[in-house]
Amino acid sequence: MDRIRINGGRPLNGSIPISGAKNAALPLLIASLLTEDRLTLKNVPNLADVNLLVRILRNHGVDLAVDGKRPGPASYLGETFHLTAREIVDTTAPYEMVSRMRASFWVLGPLIARMRQAKVSLPGGCAIGTRPVDLHLMGLKALGAEIDIEGGYVLARAPKGLRGARIVFPKVSVGATHNVLLAAALAKGETVIENAAREPEIGDVALCLSKMGAKVEGIGTSVLRIQGRDRLEGTVHTVLPDRIETGTFAMAVAATGGDVTLEGARLADLRTALDALAETGTVVEETKSGIRVARNGGGIDPVSVETQPFPGFPTDLQAQLMALLTLAAGTSVIRETIFENRFMHVQELARLGADIQLQGDTATIKGVKALKGAPVMATDLRASVSLVIAGLAGEGETVINRVYHLDRGFEQLEQKLRRCGADIERLSSG
Ligand code: EPZ
Repeated sequence: MDRIRINGGRPLNGSIPISGAKNAALPLLIASLLTEDRLTLKNVPNLADVNLLVRILRNHGVDLAVDGKRPGPASYLGETFHLTAREIVDTTAPYEMVSRMRASFWVLGPLIARMRQAKVSLPGGCAIGTRPVDLHLMGLKALGAEIDIEGGYVLARAPKGLRGARIVFPKVSVGATHNVLLAAALAKGETVIENAAREPEIGDVALCLSKMGAKVEGIGTSVLRIQGRDRLEGTVHTVLPDRIETGTFAMAVAATGGDVTLEGARLADLRTALDALAETGTVVEETKSGIRVARNGGGIDPVSVETQPFPGFPTDLQAQLMALLTLAAGTSVIRETIFENRFMHVQELARLGADIQLQGDTATIKGVKALKGAPVMATDLRASVSLVIAGLAGEGETVINRVYHLDRGFEQLEQKLRRCGADIERLSSG
């Protein structure tokens, strides 16, 4: 298994190109199941999760061609995928695949919508919490799917096809919103989703579905109104920039000091996170090409945040902010309200000298003068990258084990950091 070695204590300076968003690319790839025509996606990040989903989609009959690309700086700019699901040859998504990546469960809605039947493995638990799928099933049932659970699989049928309906989610769920939105695009008539997730990635998928022929209104609000179509067409769509990658590098610059422009990043997609960063005393400004983040000399002020669905502070940046706040001049408080178990990074940050007390869903972080390098273990994706931030800001050598978690969601992480002066390298296991 690969490891990452960091020699900390160097400021970051320069620019970092931001990749396409993982959490938009995944549902956009799944949208290819909805049409016989070709769906072209540009700016698809080269990530382990994308590759795994492609394997799942191929199993259903999706044909993929990837544009050739020359090596060099352009390799940061994502890939262009042409996906064609002329025929769905298999409506089963097996346990071996779905259990490895939760987002693959989102094939359920499109498969029922197009094929009137599907058999998709339940995703099971995962390291950050229990993560049930009741809301997904509730939404799809409202559209007319008959659902049984048998042997760990969701068996869904809609002999007469799906029909538009009004769905009021009792809780905001990104995945359930994606699943129902994708299905509603091929359902008969109008679907209204109330209390829909408002994450920019949902908006990106809605935009793509509109280009494919389904009219989606209310993009960016909590009420989505979708006019389904019998048949959707192919289109060309560019994946939006990754706001979590943007926020991660922004926290890294705040932690190490320096001055970095995050090229292509969109401030409106992560305003709350950047506001919290500004509160720590970091300079954050929009530029023509992206977002500039700088901290030169000044200390880090403590802040307190609570994770919330968009537009609140994202749970996917909670670990990274915590890494930064371990070095603040004072005490910060972070409350995690989305996933009950998303604090695995706390023990590992403590190995670097962080002073964090956990009580239920709340972490109290007392800033220390310095972190000191140590061997640590990556757990989930965002927890792992918080250790990279702590390693970059700490003194001496940090070695991060089990870095395959990072490869699930960060494209060329070490290369991007090295461009800005970080001393970071991958130790390959062979
Ligand atoms: C998406 O997961 C993201 N994944 C997660 O990013 C992200 O952390 C999460 O949204 C929250 O923003 C992708 O986009 C691929 P949810 P998802 O359904 O859709 C509960 C990363 O690191 N819930 O919005 O699975 C659930 O338990 C990943 O990139 C139900 O109760 O999250 C949680 O408490 C990790 N019933 C809350 O809702 C359901 O049927 C929000 O989960 C569904 C969810």
